[in-house]
Amino acid sequence: MASAGPISVVIVFHSAYRGSTAALAEAIARGAASVEDVTTTMVSVDEVDDHWETLHRADALVFGSPTYVGSVSAAFKAFIERLAGDVWLERMWLNKVAGGFTVSSGPSGDKLNTLQDLAIFAAQLGMIWVPVRQIGGHYATTTSIDEAVNRMGAYLGVMAQANIDEAPPLAPPPSDVLTAELHGEHIATIARQLAAGRAKHPSPYPDRAWRTGRPLTLFDRGLTE
Ligand SMILES: Cc1cc2nc3c(=O)[nH]c(=O)nc-3n(C[C@H](O)[C@H](O)[C@H](O)COP(=O)(O)O)c2cc1C
Repeated sequence: MASAGPISVVIVFHSAYRGSTAALAEAIARGAASVEDVTTTMVSVDEVDDHWETLHRADALVFGSPTYVGSVSAAFKAFIERLAGDVWLERMWLNKVAGGFTVSSGPSGDKLNTLQDLAIFAAQLGMIWVPVRQIGGHYATTTSIDEAVNRMGAYLGVMAQANIDEAPPLAPPPSDVLTAELHGEHIATIARQLAAGRAKHPSPYPDRAWRTGRPLTLFDRGLTE
């Protein structure tokens, strides 16, 4: 993980049906790239084997999955399960910044479950989850749900809605695309701030935590005989 200098934001996503998750991934990347000193890479989970080093070196990883049957897609889950080896055990992604986004055809579509999945995946890997900064845009008659940014009023991650009979650029609509763009900018800003802070105040712990071949116990901390 870079401690200073250019910040790398990598968007890891799956998109199969209409390309709507890919359109949001592009928006996240656009927003992140608008932040000074930030470079972005988009990685489809279908091609992740060509990009592992890029993922390992990233300062921030943004996870994107369509909502399929009320959860992350099988392909995205398969990618996550591959992290359950060394990436989890060696704490390889500890303290990397993380965020997420999803899209479904239903206004709800059970998208919250997908975002919860993504946040839990990040938590299991010791990552630092960034919620949506932009306040929900449609709570009253004073706004139009079609035009409001963060029109879904979601905070755990970006929620978008894409009509099942439309593809980008028609769906998801511009308001959801802009919501994703702003979230990418926000995540990149946080990653940049953290990198600067880490350069000034290095962690007293090794990034890869304790690899003792077994979980940490009271014994390791001298708290038992
Ligand atoms: C297998 C499958 C399952 C789906 N399940 C849901 C669902 O549970 N809720 C919903 O609102 N839309 C559901 N949809 C619609 C997709 O979420 C929607 O079309 C989304 O934009 C697809 O993203 P993609 O084009 O990036 O694959 C499903 C679509 C597919 C293909």
